[in-house]
Order: sequence, then C-alpha cells, then structure tokens
Amino acid sequence: MDAARTALLLCLLEVCAGVNPCCYWPCQNKGVCVNVGLEGYECDCTHTGYHGVNCTMPYFWTSVYTFLKPSPAFSHYLLTHYKWLWDIINKISFLSDNLMRLVLTVRSNLIPSPPTYNSDYNYLTWEGYANVSYFTRLLPPVPKDCPTPAGTKGYKTRPNATELAKEFLLRRTFIPDPQRTNLMFAFFAQHFTHQFFRTDFDRGPGFTKALGHGVDLSHVYGDCLERQQHLRLFKDGKLKYQVVNGEIYPPSVNDTPIKMKYLSSVPVDKQLAIGHELFGLVPGLMMYATLWLREHNRVCNILKEEHPTWSDEQLFQTTRLILIGETIKIVIEDYVQHLSGYHFKMKFKPELLFKEQFQYRNRIALEFSHLYHWHPLMPDSFKVNNHDYKYEDFLFKPEILLDLGVDTLLESFTAQIAGRIGGGRNINGNILHVAISVIEHGRQLRLQPFNEYRKWFGLTPYKSFQELTGETEIAARLEKLYGHIDAMELYPALLLETPYENGIFGESIVEMGAPFSLKGLLGNPICSPHYWKPSTFGGQTGFDIINTATLQKLVCLNTKRCPSVAFHTPDNLGHESNEGRERPKTEF
Ligand code: HEM
Ligand SMILES: *[C@@H]1O[C@H](CO)[C@@H](O)[C@H](O)[C@H]1NC(C)=O
Ligand SMILES: *[C@@H]1O[C@H](CO)[C@@H](O)[C@H](O)[C@H]1NC(C)=O
Ligand SMILES: *[C@@H]1O[C@H](CO)[C@@H](O)[C@H](O)[C@H]1NC(C)=O
Repeated sequence: MDAARTALLLCLLEVCAGVNPCCYWPCQNKGVCVNVGLEGYECDCTHTGYHGVNCTMPYFWTSVYTFLKPSPAFSHYLLTHYKWLWDIINKISFLSDNLMRLVLTVRSNLIPSPPTYNSDYNYLTWEGYANVSYFTRLLPPVPKDCPTPAGTKGYKTRPNATELAKEFLLRRTFIPDPQRTNLMFAFFAQHFTHQFFRTDFDRGPGFTKALGHGVDLSHVYGDCLERQQHLRLFKDGKLKYQVVNGEIYPPSVNDTPIKMKYLSSVPVDKQLAIGHELFGLVPGLMMYATLWLREHNRVCNILKEEHPTWSDEQLFQTTRLILIGETIKIVIEDYVQHLSGYHFKMKFKPELLFKEQFQYRNRIALEFSHLYHWHPLMPDSFKVNNHDYKYEDFLFKPEILLDLGVDTLLESFTAQIAGRIGGGRNINGNILHVAISVIEHGRQLRLQPFNEYRKWFGLTPYKSFQELTGETEIAARLEKLYGHIDAMELYPALLLETPYENGIFGESIVEMGAPFSLKGLLGNPICSPHYWKPSTFGGQTGFDIINTATLQKLVCLNTKRCPSVAFHTPDNLGHESNEGRERPKTEF
C-alpha cells in the first residue's frame, strides 16, 4: 500500500473531519481565503474581476480581457522570432515606447505594492508591512494545520532534499546554455543580486540583512553608514583605493579595517575591503567590485570638474545616484535584454510610467530569492588565461584578481560559456549544497506548491509531471516521490520545467522572475518624477552618463586594454558590435 492510500485512510479516520478548508486552496484568481466558524471558509474576491464562492465566475469585462490576452508562450514566441519585424518596430519610437510601457505595467502589476505577507504572517499585519527585516512573501505560508506540506495534496513527508538534488539537479555532463550566456553574465548576476539577496541566517531563512530592498548599491558602499565611512576617502567624493601594478584596486583591509570574510591563507595585503563582506568568495565578484569602484572615482572626477565648489559629501552622494542609474540602465538594456532573448529592444525610460499608477517602492520577496538561485550557470572549472582553475583553486582566492588583473579576467569570463539554468541535472557537485539548502528553506518556510505560484502569475497549473518536464522518465520518478503534481515544490519545479526551445530556462522562471525584476528596477526612487531629472545627477553631464551607460562602456572607461565584453560568448561570425568601445581618456 502506498503512502497516499495511508494518508487517505488516516484522513478518513481522524484528521479530515477537522481539515482547515483553506488547505484546499479553494479561492481562485487571487481571491483570499478566510476561515469562518469551525469548518467553514470564505473567499474574498474583491478586485479580482471574479465572484462566486471560490471566485471562479468572471465578470463580463474579465471574460473579454481573458479572451483577448495572449498566452505567455505565444508572446514569448513572437518576441523571440520575426527578427525583421522587430527591427522595424524597434526603430519606430512611438511603437517601441508603448510596447515597453506595456511590458513594464503588465509585469509590475503582478507584484503587490505595498507588500503583503511574510514568512510569519499569512494574513495582513502592520508588523509584516513595517518590519523590513523580513523578506516579503507573494503568497502566504501554507497554514500550519494543513494535512500535508502542500495543503491537502501529496504525501505527508517530502522527498529527502539531498537525494532529490542528487537525482535531479546534480550535473552529469556540462550542458552549455543555448543562448550562449557566459561567465561575465553569471558573475554580474551574482554581484548585482547580492546587494538585495542577503539572507540573515542568524534570524532565519525568512529574514534579510539587505534593508534597502532593491538597487541601493550597498554592495559597493556598504550596508550601513559606518562601513561606508571606512570605505570613503573623504576627498573629492571618492572611495579609498590602492594602486597595484599601475592600476586602481579596492584598498586592503590593512588600510580599511572593516569586516570581510577571507580564508586565513590569503595574505592580509591581498585581502581587499569592499562594500559586501562576502565578495572575497569569487574573483569574478571582486572583479566587478573593482570595476564599480573605478567607475565611482571616475564619475567623481567628472562631477568635480563641473562643480568645483561642491563638497566631498555632495560629490559622493551625487555620484552614488549616478551609479545606481547606470546599474539599472545596464541591467535592463544589456542584462535583461540578453536573458530574455527578445528581438524587441528594451529601454530604460522611467518617464514611460509617469502617467501610470505605479508605486515607487519595492520589497524583496523570498520567492524571488529562491527563483534566482542560478547555480547551474557555474561551469566545472574556470578557464582563466589558458589555465584551468578547479573550484578549490578559484573560490576564496582573491589574489587571482590582483595577480592577473581586471582585463585578463574580463577577457576570460567573456570567452567562457555558462551552464544552462533550466532543464535539470546541471549543477556542479561543488555547489550542489546550495540547491539542497534552498529546498530545505522552502520547506521550513512553508512555501506554497509550485502550481499555486503558476496561478498567481496567470499561468495554467500543470496537470501532470509529464507536462512539467516534457518527458516521461523523470516525470515518473517525481510522481513517485511527490504523489501529485499539485504537491510539487517551487524551486525544483522551476529548474525541472521544460526549457524554451534554445532558451536558458522555461516559462515559469521568465513569467515569475520578470515581474519581480522590473518592479525592483523601476520602483527605485531615482525613477520617480521628482528624482528623474538632470539636476539630481549634477546636471546634464551626469544624466547623460546614466542614459548612455552600457556594459562595454563601464569596462572600457575603466580598464587599460578596453577588452571587448558581452553577456554572451562571442559569435564566430565576427560581427561583434563595437559600440561604446571608443578609447576614452582616463585619469584616475
Ligand atoms: C562559484 C560560484 C558560487 C558559489 C560558490 C555560490 C555559493 C553560494 C552559497 C554558499 C550560498 C548560501 C547558501 C545557503 O546557505 O543557503 C549562496 C546563495 C545564493 N547564491 Fe550563490 N554561489 C555561486 C554563484 C552564484 C551565481 C552565479 C548566482 C546567480 C545569480 C548565485 C545566486 C545566489 C543567490 C540568489 C543566493 C541567495 C543569497 C541570499 O539570500 O543570501 N550564486 N551561493
Ligand atoms: C469551491 O472549492 C471547494 C474546494 O476546492 C469545492 O469543494 C467546492 O465544490 C467549490 N465550490 C464551488 C461552488 O465551486
Ligand atoms: C522584526 O522581526 C524580528 C522577528 O520577530 C525581530 O527580531 C526584530 O526585532 C523586528 N525588527 C524590528 C525593527 O522591530
Ligand atoms: C537525507 O539523505 C541523506 C543521505 O542521502 C542523509 O544523510 C540525511 O540524513 C537525510 N535527511 C533526512 C532529513 O532524512
């Protein structure tokens, strides 16, 4: 007799009589389930466009809208095909502006703002709103009194996370990303996201140390005033630096006594002090930290020239706002553009939202952090300067950056292809423990099942494991372990979903990731009407720096050799764009 039958029996005998009805997820279309009396429930369908006991009956306009709305798979197909058509649309700013506005509003409307739940409250509370030490939660935790961890479906116990990861997520042979994503992208992803994904494990996996909840560049400037002050030179707005082999690097911890995590084997003078205490972990992170430090001091020079009367403080603060703007620009137009694979050219234009209802605020969600565990990107070894570094020779070895220099790392990381994120079985064994831990945290925090997340984002819930994985063998194993597709967990499902054809991952990571991402980027205060103007950034020059920022320029203006870089490996056709590679005059 299998576990499902046992559970059913148990249920008939005792538990089911008193099952919390909300455990059945009865309320559809984002209706809110509230317990009433001893065994009853009510669905609050306010503002859902639906009515009825379970919010399943559409109002007239809802039916029209649902009928006209293209499916995500269809939109994705359009956006990634018909390049000739997009080449035309991209040139007509009336069309492309309106399409970009639609992308931004449709995506960010899926994210509640102000935020709602957190891992300790599955109903609205002032604490949940006001205590920013929590990651917010898009969907509230599964009630503690539900018969199974997924509500009512599936087994009472989940499959062992270690064995699950080993069977379905561990890499057998390296699967390169078909979109040709490279390590330059992977380390950018890690560097960029760790400013707002900083789980506070002392408090628990539902808490964050990144209280800015967005693009605040705390990984460059430190997360508190004291750390920032240690990192600053207090002259011309600049950050402290040191010169090694004639080039600018972050200062050593000798000169800047702040907490950094390094192995004791790293010589103290090679331990660099930067905003994020964990970035000594990978040379790729230290490389980006160095680039942004150089950029900060470069922009300070430009501002100082335009505003010779400005204090150190004003130069520093204004430069920080400019770097936040540059970051968002590069993330939308280079990073998200690459990731999407769209032929439609995305634009960073905050003014597109000025006539829309849009809240300029953001709270980082736990689900976003889980979804962003993109460890399959990491290769089996790191090919730098014709040398193959194993994990143990690469991690916690910041001296690789100082020894080889920024330019060499940039060239190597641009050349090396990253792993495909979706499709399963592509995480290197050295970092498989991260996937195990994210699965375990998801359980501890009682994340709702994957299909409930599908529904929230307007996607049809999967009816079977075959439909999820697009094959039969793995699907059958999953079915055996979980019992029911409605019991499948969020993180493993995201990685095991069939990827798009030639895509880096499947529909769910795109449809769930894009709303969080765009809301976080455009919800930044610098994108709001009272900030988004030249004076905020020291005048037209500063504003132009933001509006012309690219990855290539960031690299070019801050390196010796101005290596050609991108977020994908160079195509062998040899028509790599040279845009932004004009050699700049640099003095640090
Ligand atoms: C060699 C490279 C990498 C190593 C050794 C590494 C290792 C780790 C470790 C040890 C954790 C903490 C896990 C835990 O205890 O729960 C973590 C968290 C995380 N990693 Fe990675 N990782 C690497 C690359 C990446 C990349 C390329 C990404 C891409 C986005 C990424 C995204 C994340 C995220 C989002 C978290 C959660 C952070 C938090 O909330 O604290 N990692 N990683
Ligand atoms: C509402 O949902 C519950 C639980 O899924 C179901 O038993 C019930 O039949 C539904 N009621 C209506 C009117 O659809
Ligand atoms: C936020 O909640 C946590 C957990 O209850 C608590 O330890 C912390 O003090 C709270 N923070 C604030 C600012 O109240
Ligand atoms: C999961 O399996 C591993 C061995 O594969 C074992 O060491 C671990 O204790 C198991 N965890 C649980 C919670 O049973």
